[in-house]
Amino acid sequence: MRATDLVRWLACSIALAWAATGTTHGAGEPVSEGPFTPGECLECHATRDPALVAQWRAGPHASTADCVACHGDRHGALPAARADSACTGCHDGAVAHSYATSKHGVLVRIGRPDWTQPLQRVRHRAPGCAYCHLHDRDHGDTMAAARGPEVRDWVCSGCHAPRFVREQLDAGVRLTEIADLKIQEAEQMAGRHPDGSGALADLLETAGTHRRNVQLGAGHQSPDYQWWHGQPALDGDLIRIRDRVAGAIRAASGSASIPPENRGNRD
Ligand code: HEC
Ligand code: HEC
Ligand code: HEC
Ligand code: HEC
Ligand code: HEC
Repeated sequence: MRATDLVRWLACSIALAWAATGTTHGAGEPVSEGPFTPGECLECHATRDPALVAQWRAGPHASTADCVACHGDRHGALPAARADSACTGCHDGAVAHSYATSKHGVLVRIGRPDWTQPLQRVRHRAPGCAYCHLHDRDHGDTMAAARGPEVRDWVCSGCHAPRFVREQLDAGVRLTEIADLKIQEAEQMAGRHPDGSGALADLLETAGTHRRNVQLGAGHQSPDYQWWHGQPALDGDLIRIRDRVAGAIRAASGSASIPPENRGNRD
């Protein structure tokens, strides 16, 4: 075989090998199906999709969820990455439950969404996790407050009237502000405990969980989390903190004024 023939033969067999194992993507360019390591995904896609990879690097998943965590290690599984189950393996508990108890969560659960459709306006009836947080293939977090209100407005108003969206988001901010005031009040009260606020660490931690429930309830539009697991639960924390502090102050002042031999038989 002459050298040029050898080159032609090699090129031809490589192309055939690609065609045999590859899937045709986008512009008809053949690419191997995989499997790949997360490092290989990054290496190829950092040059192919620099914007997408930059969003991922700047977003919440750069150090917590690599490409394979959502996409699996092979090409051709894009629909599965759009489904809620791509997220809920890692984000369970209150995050998943606050969404599940929202109208969106219920509609996605019963509505047989078509995950072959991109996460863009008009393509979906109700938003799943990735529709909101990785909207239109943005690999940062499109719901992050730091991205500014316009991004959320844009995502929500693909399905709702802009005025409705504004009202909902403003109401969410107010709810979270009220929860923050309650946390401040709890900390101030706890500071009056004779042994210092450390004595109420358990109740303050519970209050923090309930404050987060309010925020999740607002973010995920879950009335259960805004109200049942949120504000009334915080009110209960305040009452318990007030009672413990009052009891401790009573006990402390009691021990100062009642002689030790008389304590315990005060009637
Ligand atoms: C050898 C280079 C290469 C490697 C390695 C690679 N990709 Fe790709 N990938 C491509 C090309 C080329 C396309 C098609 C053109 C495009 O959309 O950029 C593509 C398409 C995709 C798509 C959209 C279409 C589909 O079928 O899924 C996703 C998602 C994707 N890759 C994710 C990954 C993930 C995750 C990994 C690692 C497990 C990975 N890629 C590894 C080159 C690569
Ligand atoms: C948190 C989950 C998650 C992680 C992590 C993630 N992706 Fe994705 N990716 C998605 C989802 C969901 C979509 C579908 C977006 C849509 O339809 O708008 C997607 C879409 C894509 C696409 C198709 C974009 C297009 O043009 O349609 C590519 C390519 C891709 N991801 C590559 C990557 C690479 C490379 C990494 C690692 C740097 C990565 N993804 C990490 C969830 C993820
Ligand atoms: C491999 C596990 C894993 C997968 C899969 C995953 N995440 Fe995450 N994600 C994390 C971790 C860990 C963090 C950082 C800690 C935290 O805030 O929970 C995080 C952070 C986030 C944040 C930012 C939270 C904040 O406090 O600002 C959002 C939003 C998010 N993920 C949404 C998603 C969505 C939507 C999906 C599915 C498309 C997904 N994640 C898939 C592990 C994962
Ligand atoms: C309707 C849009 C929407 C849907 C659907 C949605 N989210 Fe969210 N998510 C938000 C908003 C808005 C926030 C609030 C962000 C904030 O408070 O700054 C949020 C907050 C979060 C956070 C941060 C929680 C924290 O610790 O403060 C995580 C993680 C998250 N969502 C993951 C998910 C997952 C997983 C799903 C699906 C099970 C999901 N989201 C569904 C809009 C949505
Ligand atoms: C993909 C479409 C879609 C997107 C995006 C979307 N929603 Fe919805 N939303 C719906 C549908 C459908 C319903 C159920 C409507 C009904 O019950 O009449 C709903 C219900 C709601 C409800 C409950 C209304 C009620 O009557 O109980 C609120 C609040 C809400 N959405 C706010 C938001 C906010 C805020 C965002 C953005 C973070 C958002 N939605 C994003 C489709 C969407």
